[in-house]
Amino acid sequence: MAEERLVSPQRQAEESGLEPSLRPRRIDEYIGQERLKESLRIFLQAAQGRGEALDHVLLYGPPGLGKTTLANVIANEMGVNLKVTSGPAIERQGDLAAILTNLRRGDILFIDEVHRLSRVVEEVLYPAMEDFCLDIVIGKGPSARSIRLSLPHFTIIGATTRIALMTSPLRARFGVTYRLDFYEPPAMRAIVSRTAAILDVGIDKDGVEEIARRSRGTPRVANRLLKRVRDYAQVRAGGSITAEVARQALDLLAVDPLGLDEADRRVLHTLVDKFEGGPVGIETIAAALSEEADTVMDVYEPYLMQLGFLERTPRGRVATRRAYEHLGLPYPEQGNPSQPELFST
Ligand SMILES: Nc1ncnc2c1ncn2[C@@H]1O[C@H](COP(=O)(O)OP(=O)(O)OP(=O)(O)O)[C@@H](O)[C@H]1O
Ligand SMILES: [Mg+2]
Repeated sequence: MAEERLVSPQRQAEESGLEPSLRPRRIDEYIGQERLKESLRIFLQAAQGRGEALDHVLLYGPPGLGKTTLANVIANEMGVNLKVTSGPAIERQGDLAAILTNLRRGDILFIDEVHRLSRVVEEVLYPAMEDFCLDIVIGKGPSARSIRLSLPHFTIIGATTRIALMTSPLRARFGVTYRLDFYEPPAMRAIVSRTAAILDVGIDKDGVEEIARRSRGTPRVANRLLKRVRDYAQVRAGGSITAEVARQALDLLAVDPLGLDEADRRVLHTLVDKFEGGPVGIETIAAALSEEADTVMDVYEPYLMQLGFLERTPRGRVATRRAYEHLGLPYPEQGNPSQPELFST
């Protein structure tokens, strides 16, 4: 299933706490996302000043940008417990009821992949989020009655890569919504430097720059590439990382100067070679790649769109001129009716 594939070994290691030290714990350690952080600081301080639980928070954005990390940061800053679950893990209403009745005042319940909650579970969640109560039906048939339990004031932090798949009643119950964006180059460099310091690997300024540039604006990718370059440096280059070492290692991993790897290029090539650059539907592309449409949409497309290589149009996905240029292929002009006129005078 798609979610299995989305959970990479790296992410499993992160979430299982095998590499807890790379995850920032406090807001001051959390690099980049400056506007988000500014707003978050006010939000946290205001709730703390009133001695209240935080309002519910929704975090969304492409994988690996720091949603789970941010949920942990928020819990640490508030000094409260964080319970972790995910949309698909809560199968029945009773599962959610059990989780909610175990929360204490101020606790944070982190629901990853919140767009994958089932409708029946969502229905229990609505009054819980809004009025901090739980309606439980006791008995069956005509003698069934419903009792209302009140819950302590808790906070839900929902995370999703696909906000468009959330129902609007659920979305509306989050008081605060933060969108995480791809990181800017200075933030990416800071992340590479920070991770290198934690891993205790020698790296110079140009080495940092090279890895940061090829990490597709994504901290998880930066950490992964840095580790692979570290391996290469250790075996081939006496341990420390320069631009040249980084370049050789990343070329060996087939990560190109824009950070695209073989899988990304395969998406572009499929679009260009098999479907003449589109427009073509996402399901068709996914089938041609033997991937899930969800994986293509979550993992590959966001960065290709960010680079301006791919566009989502109402008729399907289209490869842009820049994509052709990056692949070193001629851009087919015949599809563009205005083009011949340019040469007709
Ligand atoms: N702002 C940041 N500063 C430094 N490191 C970061 C930052 N954000 C994320 N990271 C690093 O990137 C890794 C991935 O982040 P995280 O697991 O929070 O992403 P995510 O958005 O939850 O991804 P997914 O959608 O796949 O669950 C973390 O382990 C952490 O080390
Ligand atoms: Mg996560």
